[in-house]
Formats: sequence, C-alpha cells, structure tokens
Amino acid sequence: MGLKLSSVSHHFDGHLAVDDFNLSVGHGELVCLLGPSGCGKTTSLRLAAGLEDLQQGTISIGGRMVADGVSSLPPESRDIGFLFQDFALFPHLTIADNVAFGLDKMADAEKKARVLEVLSQVGMETRGDSFPHMLSGGQQQRVALARALANRPNLVLLDEPFSGLDSALRSQVRDQTLHLLKKSGVSTLMVTHDPEEAMFMADKIALMREGRIVQFGPPADLYCRPVEEFVATFFGEVNDFESEVGSDGHIATPFGGLESAGLTIGTKVKVLIRPEALILSSDDSNNEVEVMASRLLGRSSLIHLKGGEGGHFHSRMPSNFLPKEGEKLGVKLDLTQTFVFPAK
Ligand SMILES: Nc1ncnc2c1ncn2[C@@H]1O[C@H](COP(=O)(O)OP(=O)(O)OP(=O)(O)O)[C@@H](O)[C@H]1O
Ligand SMILES: [Mg+2]
Repeated sequence: MGLKLSSVSHHFDGHLAVDDFNLSVGHGELVCLLGPSGCGKTTSLRLAAGLEDLQQGTISIGGRMVADGVSSLPPESRDIGFLFQDFALFPHLTIADNVAFGLDKMADAEKKARVLEVLSQVGMETRGDSFPHMLSGGQQQRVALARALANRPNLVLLDEPFSGLDSALRSQVRDQTLHLLKKSGVSTLMVTHDPEEAMFMADKIALMREGRIVQFGPPADLYCRPVEEFVATFFGEVNDFESEVGSDGHIATPFGGLESAGLTIGTKVKVLIRPEALILSSDDSNNEVEVMASRLLGRSSLIHLKGGEGGHFHSRMPSNFLPKEGEKLGVKLDLTQTFVFPAK
C-alpha cells in the first residue's frame, strides 16, 4: 500500500478541517483529492507529509506506520517526495543543486547521474547550471517535480502542481507528469480543484466536501454513478428540475418518463440531466423541443432549448450541430447520464 490514512481528523482552533478521513493509495496508483476551496485537501496532504502534527487517527506509508498519535516520523524520514502549491526552488542554488538537495546520502558520482536522469525525464537536462530565475514558470515547475522524484520515494504528494501555468503549458506539463509518474511506478496523491484535471490524471478520485470524502472510486464511477447531487454537479453543468414519482410509478420529465428506482409513489425528486444526455435529431418526432439558440463551442455545440413553464435546457451535441432558432427537434434522453435523487 502506498499510503493509508485511517480515521484521521484535524482541528484548527475548533474548526474541523479534516473529519474522520479514510483514504488508501495503492502501490503505483495515482489518486486525486478533488474538492472545492477550503474543503481540507491541503491539510490532508500536509498531514500525510508530516508537515502538520497528527491529532487523531493513523497514517502509514509503504506499509510502515509513520504517525499514530503517539509517535510521528519527521517528513524527511517518511520516504516521500512533495511539491506544494508554492513549489519554490532555492533561488541561490543551481537547477542541478536544487534537484540534488535531498540526495545527501549518495556518493557524488551516483548523485550526479541521478540528477541528470531525473532532469532528462522532465526535459530539463540541459539546464542543470542555470539558476531558477533564468527559467520560465513551467520549467521551474518541471524542476520541482524532478526534485520530488529524485530520491525514488515510495510516495509523491502533489498540491495543485500545475497551478499558475497557462492552459497550453498546463496540458503539456500535465501530460508529461502523468507518464513520468506512471513510468516510475511511484504511488501518488495529488490535490486539485479542477474536475477535468482529476479525470485526466487519476486512477481513482476522492471527492471531498467540508473535510469528508463524499465519493471515492475510478473517475468513471464518480461521473457515471454519482452517489449524490453534489458529485453529479461537481463534474460540470447539469440541467436540473424537480419532479415526483407519479401514480404509475414513473417520474415525469419533458423528455419522457423515468423509472422511479425503487422510490415510493409521491416522493419528491430532483432530476439531473447532463447536457450531452439530451440527444437532438430532426428525424424523430417524439418529445419535440424548440430551439432558442445554438452556439459552436469548438469540439461541441451548445443548444438552448425551450422547456415547459419558462424553463430552459442545455443540450451538448458533438461538433458543428447548429439548428436555427425556432426549429423543432426530437430529443432522446441518454439514461446513463440522467440521475434521480430524492429532493432535500
Ligand atoms: N494553519 C491554519 N490555521 C487555521 N485554519 C486553517 C489553517 N490551514 C487551513 N485552515 C482552514 O482549514 C480548512 C481547510 O483548509 P485547506 O487548506 O486544507 O483547504 P483546501 O481544500 O486545500 O483549499 P484550496 O483549494 O483553497 O487550497 C479551511 O477552512 C482553512 O481556512
Ligand atoms: Mg489547498
């Protein structure tokens, strides 16, 4: 096991920042901690790193107990590499010396070879003699990643490692990092607040809210089988409306009836439909809808549809599908991206 946090809770002045937290990162697995600002992601990571004193619960890394509330190993004895939000390199050290910083137990020749090896893994092998201020933000970030991996740690902890990069560079560095981590076989816990980034990187995602994990599993589980409304909406815009289980046992929607999934007649429900689940076509006259506007967004088009009682819905269709305003279209519902929860 790469990392195991068991029943970990953490207070700051009476505020419960991490609340009975249980999380495992398997050997060689990449797990993303995802959640809104202030939900306790960084605190969980700092506890795992030993940068925050453990108040309750236990933490083990690579099968070894590192903190159990009684004793605690310092960060440098935990066999970890980390990269935090402010990934600061030491400004007075060269790039090579920055990467070599944690390798003090190695002989000089071995150290030099290892520094060159990790720097080439991030494409920075020619910049060993430069100083941090001579590098762009993205290059510095890659060096910080090389530094985190240099000592071949059991576990890497990354806190928003791609923040501060522009979107083109961000996807490039993210892609390189994914392959580098996977190739090195290290276990990784990575924090992000960006659901797309989590889906891009993660073998498994732990979605957090207010110090607790709401759902943990492979990205497809969270996206396709959300356990509650918060999970479904966190991954992107959804059409939502209230309805109820009718006397025929079905839930009425403007796009046809839905199965009630075991809910009793009369139960008030919230229906969530992802825009890509409203599939439009001109040759299907069932469930007609009227187009209010169409916009090309690049890889997909967004079509605004008139709903009943002044409401309106969004449909997302692949590529360049741009029906005209006022046009009537048939709509089919993709039930795999339609979710029903009892109303609160
Ligand atoms: N040193 C501290 N002292 C007091 N409160 C703190 C401290 N660090 C964090 N907190 C509080 O604990 C909660 C969780 O903070 P944390 O930094 O873990 O959130 P986060 O999920 O990493 O957020 P973000 O996405 O904004 O980085 C917040 O309410 C925060 O204000
Ligand atoms: Mg944070």
